[in-house]
Amino acid sequence: MNTPKLTAENLRKSYGDHEAVRGISLDIAKGEVFGLLGPNGAGKTTTISMLTGLLNPTAGRVLVDGKPFTSRSNELKMKIGFVPQELALYPTLSAYENLLFFGRIYRLHGKQLRQRVDEVLEMVGLTDRAKDPIEDYSGGMKRRINIAAGLLHQPEILFLDEPTVGVDPQSRNAIFESVEALNWQGLTILYTTHYMEEAERLCNRVAIVDHGQVIAMDSPKAMIRGLGGGLLRVGLVNGKLPKVHEKVQTLPSVKGAQQLEGELMIQTHESRQALVDVLEVTNSLDATVTSLEIYEPNLETVFLNLTGRNLRN
Ligand SMILES: Nc1ncnc2c1ncn2[C@@H]1O[C@H](COP(=O)(O)OP(=O)(O)OP(=O)(O)O)[C@@H](O)[C@H]1O
Ligand SMILES: [Mg+2]
Repeated sequence: MNTPKLTAENLRKSYGDHEAVRGISLDIAKGEVFGLLGPNGAGKTTTISMLTGLLNPTAGRVLVDGKPFTSRSNELKMKIGFVPQELALYPTLSAYENLLFFGRIYRLHGKQLRQRVDEVLEMVGLTDRAKDPIEDYSGGMKRRINIAAGLLHQPEILFLDEPTVGVDPQSRNAIFESVEALNWQGLTILYTTHYMEEAERLCNRVAIVDHGQVIAMDSPKAMIRGLGGGLLRVGLVNGKLPKVHEKVQTLPSVKGAQQLEGELMIQTHESRQALVDVLEVTNSLDATVTSLEIYEPNLETVFLNLTGRNLRN
């Protein structure tokens, strides 16, 4: 394999005695769109903060182009663009003026700076609104200007932390299109989200993070394929669970099943057929079904299958 564009080696971060990130390792190839997916508090922002040199890890290290990267690696830092979860724009200034300001932080000046501001405005599709003050922008448009700011110095890796949270559908689409176009131009992108459908659309590979650890890593397609025909989640009166479990596993329409807190998670080859078969089993064993849900094969269901929890409550 070529040297990965970005490597995380066993990253850990503790806040006091709370370990927010508990040994995350990743190799991200040049030109990849890589997704970090996980519920609130999973450790996505903490991980991204370590990957961008904003936060020093408690243990482990980060490599950019195979070279150790820390908060002091000024040269490597120029390769990185970071779009934080929180917005930081001056409301009374126009988008154009905000971007001039950010560009100066990156030591861009004069004609070169103005040209670059025009380019990034074009990339996020806000050229015609550039002279309006930020306070007149929608949440989604502000976010797009934040993305533009992260692109000013022509980074090689772009980090986007939940770029579509609280964003209107139009801006959301614009963000998707920018991400796709930027990646098309060769940019490596690391994207965090808890919207699985976004990851399905945008990411070549994803890592599902839960409680500070990677619990699965693959292409969205392969993860979904692994689910087969979808998932059945069957609540049963406790005493009957083991017996039903045993019998359900022998059904031809069923790939496998696990017990999770009074419920049976059943991976199917074909969910409708499996549903009929499973109910036949529960009837024959006189087991009372207390709840029943069918989940289509998608990344949300992958998370449910791995953790027994829904990604969002
Ligand atoms: N500065 C901090 N001090 C103490 N604890 C923190 C700090 N930042 C984060 N945490 C804790 O670390 C854990 C991971 O937080 P983090 O912000 O990385 O999660 P996240 O996956 O980005 O969540 P979200 O989807 O809500 O943005 C959480 O339990 C959070 O409360
Ligand atoms: Mg976060």
